[in-house]
Amino acid sequence: MFESLEQAPPDAILGLNELFRQDENPNKINLSVGVYKDENGQTPVLACVKQVEQLLLEQETSKSYLGMDGLAELAGPVQELVFGEIPADGRAVTLQTPGGTGALRVAADFLRQGPGAQRIWVSNPTWANHPNIFRATGLEVNTYDYLDKDSLSLSFDALTDSLAKIPAGDVVCLHACCHNPTGVDPSPEQWDAIAEICQQNQLLPLIDFAYQGFGDGLSEDSVAIQQFIRRGSEMLVASSFSKNFGLYCERIGALTIVAADGQAAQAALSHAKLSVRTNYSNPPKHGGAIVAAVLSDPQLRASWETDVAAMRERIQKMRARFVAAMTARTSDHDFSFIQDQRGMFSYSGLNRQQVDRLRTEFSVYAVGSGRINVAGMTENNIEPLCDAIAAVL
Ligand code: LMR
Repeated sequence: MFESLEQAPPDAILGLNELFRQDENPNKINLSVGVYKDENGQTPVLACVKQVEQLLLEQETSKSYLGMDGLAELAGPVQELVFGEIPADGRAVTLQTPGGTGALRVAADFLRQGPGAQRIWVSNPTWANHPNIFRATGLEVNTYDYLDKDSLSLSFDALTDSLAKIPAGDVVCLHACCHNPTGVDPSPEQWDAIAEICQQNQLLPLIDFAYQGFGDGLSEDSVAIQQFIRRGSEMLVASSFSKNFGLYCERIGALTIVAADGQAAQAALSHAKLSVRTNYSNPPKHGGAIVAAVLSDPQLRASWETDVAAMRERIQKMRARFVAAMTARTSDHDFSFIQDQRGMFSYSGLNRQQVDRLRTEFSVYAVGSGRINVAGMTENNIEPLCDAIAAVL
C-alpha cells in the first residue's frame, strides 16, 4: 500500500520547528512557529494555570467522557470574553474544541455538511494552514486582497473591492486581530466598513481569534466581533487559548456559532456536534477545565490578565528594540513598519532566499514567506539576530 508513496512536503510552519530541534548550533534562534517566549527564551506555564492544575489534581473525581460540545461551564465565560461589551443575547452557542485548529475544522465541516456552504474566501496572504483545513472539508478556497506588498500595510481599498465581489452566501475567513502572518490589522473604523459589506452582501464571517489579548488588549481586540454583533449578523468565531493561556500542548480552543436567534443557534449546535463526533468524538477535558476555572474566578482572572498584558507589552518592546537595532545597522532598509504591526507576527519583507540564508548560515529560523515571530526575540538574541539579518539584506 505505501511503497509508491513519495515523501509528503514538510509543513510550512511546523516543519521548520522540526528542523530547528535538529539544529545543533547552541546560538540558534527560532522565529518560526507562533509560540511566546519570555525574556529568558522560555515558554512558561502561567501561575494561574499551575494553581488550577493543583486544584484539579486534588479535586477531580472522574475521567469520564465530556459531551461532544465539551464542558458546559466553559461556554458562558468564553462568550463573555469573545463578545466583550456587547452580548450576543442568547443567539450564540459555544463548543470546546482541540485548539483553534480544531475549532476551524469543526466550523468548516459544519458549514459544508449542515447549511451546505460551497466556498470560503481567505485573505492573501493568510495562515498557511487555513487553505489546507478548509479544502479538507470539501470547501472551495479563494482569496481576497489584503496586503499592500510595497508598504507592507493594509490595502484597504483593494480589500473592500474584493469583498464586494464575493457572491452572497459565501463564507469569508477574517482574522479578528494580530493578522497571521502579517501583523497588519484593520482599524476599528475599517472593521465597521468590512462588517457592513459582509452584512449588505450576505457574506458569512468565520472569524479566527487565535491571538486575543496580544494586539491592544483583551477587550480592545474584540472590536471586529462587536461590529458584527452590533449588526445582528450571523457568524462563527474560532478561539484559541494556546497563546493567551500558554496552553499550546493541551489543545484547547472554542467554536462559537452566532445564529439569527436562539432556536437557530441550537439547530446549528446539533449539526456542529455531528462534525465533532465524526472527527474526535468529544474533546479532551484538561485545558477546558483550566480556562473555565481561570475565567470564572476573579483572583485567577486578574492574575491571567496581568500575564497577558505582560506578554503583549514584551512583544511591543521587542518590536521597538528590533527597529532600533536594524536602524543602527542599515540606512537602506526602513523597518519602522514593524512597530505599527500587532501580535506575534510581522511580515519582515525578507524574501525566500534571504530566509533560507538566515537558516543555513546563521541558524535563524523564519517562515519562508518572510514571516517572523517577534515573540521569539529576546535581549540575548536581538543583537546577533539583527547582525544576521543585516548580513543577508
Ligand atoms: C503559527 O502560525 O505559527 C501558529 O498558529 C502555530 C501553528 O499551528 O501554525
